Amino acid sequence: MSERIFWAPGRVNLIGEFTDLVGGPVLPAALDLGIRIEAEAAETIDLCSHELGGRARLAADGSPLGGENEGWARYVAAVAVELALLGRPAVGLEGEISSTLPIGAGLSSSAALEVTAGLALCAVADFSLEPLELAQAARRAEHRAVGVPCGILDQAASLLGRAGSAVLLDTGTLAYEYVPLPEGITLVIVGSGVSRRLESSGYATRQGEVERALTAFAGRAPGEITLAEIESGEKLGRFDPVAARRLRHAVSESERVHEVARLLGDPTPPNLTRLDEVFAAGHESVRRDWEASTPELDLLVELARENGAVAARMTGGGFGGSIVALAWADEAAALADSILSAYESRGDAPATAYICRASAGAGEIS
Ligand code: GLA
Repeated sequence: MSERIFWAPGRVNLIGEFTDLVGGPVLPAALDLGIRIEAEAAETIDLCSHELGGRARLAADGSPLGGENEGWARYVAAVAVELALLGRPAVGLEGEISSTLPIGAGLSSSAALEVTAGLALCAVADFSLEPLELAQAARRAEHRAVGVPCGILDQAASLLGRAGSAVLLDTGTLAYEYVPLPEGITLVIVGSGVSRRLESSGYATRQGEVERALTAFAGRAPGEITLAEIESGEKLGRFDPVAARRLRHAVSESERVHEVARLLGDPTPPNLTRLDEVFAAGHESVRRDWEASTPELDLLVELARENGAVAARMTGGGFGGSIVALAWADEAAALADSILSAYESRGDAPATAYICRASAGAGEIS
């Protein structure tokens, strides 16, 4: 039996933050940073990682083999269990996991691990799933592993990514299309140094809050609700101000996703001033209405804009993590350096910058 290699990228979300919690649109891109599994079929699951530390030792259906599976091993176990529930034959996997993706930076390292483990487990068992079926199984695995009620954004982005493009995904219908990034534009991601864990953040609470407001709209989709209706609903006491703010973010953010997709796709050429404004409004909405930004993320966005980014905002699950900036490729390194040195002189935590390309989604490397 020979080793096979599987790869799943992390993602950066250009805009459409937390909208997947209410079936709204998102606009992520897969990154050229990710997780790799080099493994072969075996009787049990036995994966180790020098980089991540630790080991996953499980029965082929994901059930424990006696020892504790902690840290990243919980995700592998949960993926194996979800795939077994879908009928994957119980074939094990033995090999090594490596990663170029920073952990806890808000770039979906857990989704990349779930997706790459899922691909490898499916391949060795000759079991095939459509990309979005695997994304859904991986999302359920995230719930199972750490109890986080996340949306489909991260897992879908990792599987659907395409080089040079963002993916415009309707998380309600799962319909998607590709939005090519303008020629010469690259992604600058800056990690705030404040690591984030969805399970201990306010992520789950926010979901309960937005649902509180949505109940008052009796089953109407957020895409059909207007900002004026939210304002009057709040005035009439149909929901509380916190719930109103959460829904206002979800509704206004969904509009921004469509506007950014239109702006990026405009060949004549794109209106970059407007792009900057929409990204800034998106950041402000996460800060003020969803309340998931941090002073460090606010500072990084400010520095990125001051230092010539085309557009910048926080990205991902919030409460720490990273910002994403769009920049001209030939200015990206200088932009990253200016942000890092200004941040260092004003902030506490050490920031890290990554210049990335929108990349292809997960798959087997032959
Ligand atoms: C995390 C979740 C996603 C999404 C983002 C915020 O990354 O896993 O489902 O909700 O936060 O957009």
